[in-house]
Amino acid sequence: MTDMQTAEMADNNSPSTESTLSEISAGDGPPKMTTRNVNVFYGEKQAIKDVSIDVNMDNVTAFIGPSGCGKSTFLRCLNRMNDTIPIAKVTGDITLEGEDIYAPQMDVVQLRARVGMVFQKPNPFPKSIYDNIAYGPKIHGLATGKEELDQIVENSLQRAGLWGEVKDRLQDSGTALSGGQQQRLCIARAIAVDPEVILMDEPCSALDPIATAKIEELIHEIRGKYAIVIVTHNMQQAARVSQRTAFFHLGTLVEYGVTSDIFTNPVQDKTRDYITGRYG
Ligand SMILES: Nc1ncnc2c1ncn2[C@@H]1O[C@H](COP(=O)(O)OP(=O)(O)O)[C@@H](O)[C@H]1O
Ligand SMILES: [Mg+2]
Repeated sequence: MTDMQTAEMADNNSPSTESTLSEISAGDGPPKMTTRNVNVFYGEKQAIKDVSIDVNMDNVTAFIGPSGCGKSTFLRCLNRMNDTIPIAKVTGDITLEGEDIYAPQMDVVQLRARVGMVFQKPNPFPKSIYDNIAYGPKIHGLATGKEELDQIVENSLQRAGLWGEVKDRLQDSGTALSGGQQQRLCIARAIAVDPEVILMDEPCSALDPIATAKIEELIHEIRGKYAIVIVTHNMQQAARVSQRTAFFHLGTLVEYGVTSDIFTNPVQDKTRDYITGRYG
């Protein structure tokens, strides 16, 4: 397809079923999650228009775009968090390991363990560090006894790069930690229930540069163990942590591809304008 045709397609708002697979695909491996022709409405207002992309295990996928373009809305489709917003309506097809996550028989509690989420503002439970991590494995029946639970807590905190800092104070409140530690605690909490996908919605926007660097390092370390999708308004961060980038504008997916291509050689003028700071 020529650039001209691609641009035309975007302008005509044609269904993305017509997109070539390489525009949707997340990489070489089989997709962990697929999304096809996803629309999201808040009442009458359409916030996401006909978006189709895949995410896989090999790559960290970044969602970028100006504020209000629908990044969080689309991210929330991936673990049905939009279900919690009464006026939100989602259409289209979204699968996890080939399973329709919007099927009536889908257990949403189970789904949100398989597709965990980390929010902009760290939100530890007002409980001990230990209980913050142990809570999920307990309700999902992942540990048979105290020893196994202790092991899950330790492993999760290790993976989240927090163990060394908290191992002597596991009974302290999670809310007493610094912002960056709280965010790593929330990542450890997501990891504790053995997820397949981790969604992060601007996880560093409330953090200082040092805490941000630690989270980015952590993302590098856990990449490949989980499919990771990160929303960020920080383009440098997207360039640093991701291998695939999706650029959203006014509810549409303008371009999805290899991160270095998006930042150095985008196909769409809109993408170029955004990454060169012409609007945002
Ligand atoms: N709970 C909601 N109720 C109504 N409209 C919403 C809600 N959440 C988001 N929106 C609207 O949907 C659009 C996309 O928002 P959002 O997904 O938060 O964008 P982003 O994360 O890219 O900043 C915006 O116009 C926003 O006002
Ligand atoms: Mg948002």
